[in-house]
Amino acid sequence: MSSLPLPGGTWKLGDLTVTRFGYGAMQLAGPWVMGPPADREGALAVLREAVELGITHIDTADAYGPRVTNELIREALHPYPETLHIATKVGALRDEQGGWPPARRPDQLRRAVTDNLEALGLDTLDLVNLRLGNAEGPQPESVAEAFETLVDLQRQGLIRHLGVSNATAEQVAEAQSIAPIVCVQNMYNLAHRHDDELIDRLADEGVAYVPFFPLGGFTPLQSDALSSVAARLGSTPMSVALAWLLRRSPNILLIAGTSSVAHLRENIAGAAVQLSDEDIAELDRIGR
Ligand SMILES: NC(=O)c1ccc[n+]([C@@H]2O[C@H](COP(=O)([O-])OP(=O)(O)OC[C@H]3O[C@@H](n4cnc5c(N)ncnc54)[C@H](OP(=O)(O)O)[C@@H]3O)[C@@H](O)[C@H]2O)c1
Repeated sequence: MSSLPLPGGTWKLGDLTVTRFGYGAMQLAGPWVMGPPADREGALAVLREAVELGITHIDTADAYGPRVTNELIREALHPYPETLHIATKVGALRDEQGGWPPARRPDQLRRAVTDNLEALGLDTLDLVNLRLGNAEGPQPESVAEAFETLVDLQRQGLIRHLGVSNATAEQVAEAQSIAPIVCVQNMYNLAHRHDDELIDRLADEGVAYVPFFPLGGFTPLQSDALSSVAARLGSTPMSVALAWLLRRSPNILLIAGTSSVAHLRENIAGAAVQLSDEDIAELDRIGR
């Protein structure tokens, strides 16, 4: 295993220490996150390389594939190193068109937790995020019944820590009024900064903020300002976007996705790029 510290150091998700530079496994499934990957061996190699390079936080969901990503993780990494922590999500299924229909009834959530345990080969899930809203983004509605169901499963010992995903600030607060959460996983990157206030509040509370689509997701970030800062630093736009997130707030954890070992290595090396105050000011203007 690499002895070099990863950019950003570590963070504590409750009692679990994770590297702030983590890995998001969604891109390992087939196109549009459906079916098996075109390059199965390549997908297994990315997972093994992530752990080899010292990453201790992998983000997944049984809906990816569905099941495909969890099964790849199990095949590549089980029995898991003690230091590795796998975060998963429940609250959405997949339909035949590749849609993500919500599945947040208590019976659906209990089933989803069991499915994740089974597919990953675990007795306890380290971190379960309740995925809210829909593909259009967060939607205002009470989280109480769904979140209480997960709290119940946590009491039964099936879940160690809880989080919420695709959530409004009000839903985060509602969940926190029911039980502690260790993270919020929402869409956020250089160009989409609607959660700026929430990130700062969570930082004050010691709760992690885990941006999904940190590189723009299915539509990679493109911006003249980002390209010009990257060129000035002799870096790449993707690297600068990740370095900016690490610098934005200490509670931000990266789960950038890639299906390529070369991109994984490039992202780890690149996220260490040092940004000056001038770089930050220029990058901050992109999303404002
Ligand atoms: N909670 C939710 O509702 C939700 C929703 C979406 C995603 N997520 C989580 O967030 C994680 C991250 O999101 P994401 O993977 O969709 O998006 P992302 O990290 O923003 O971007 C991934 C895309 O960037 C490309 N990429 C990565 N490194 C690159 C590099 N160095 N150069 C060029 N291209 C590069 C990847 O292509 P290559 O494969 O070719 O590298 C992939 O297409 C997911 O894995 C998932 O775990 C959660």
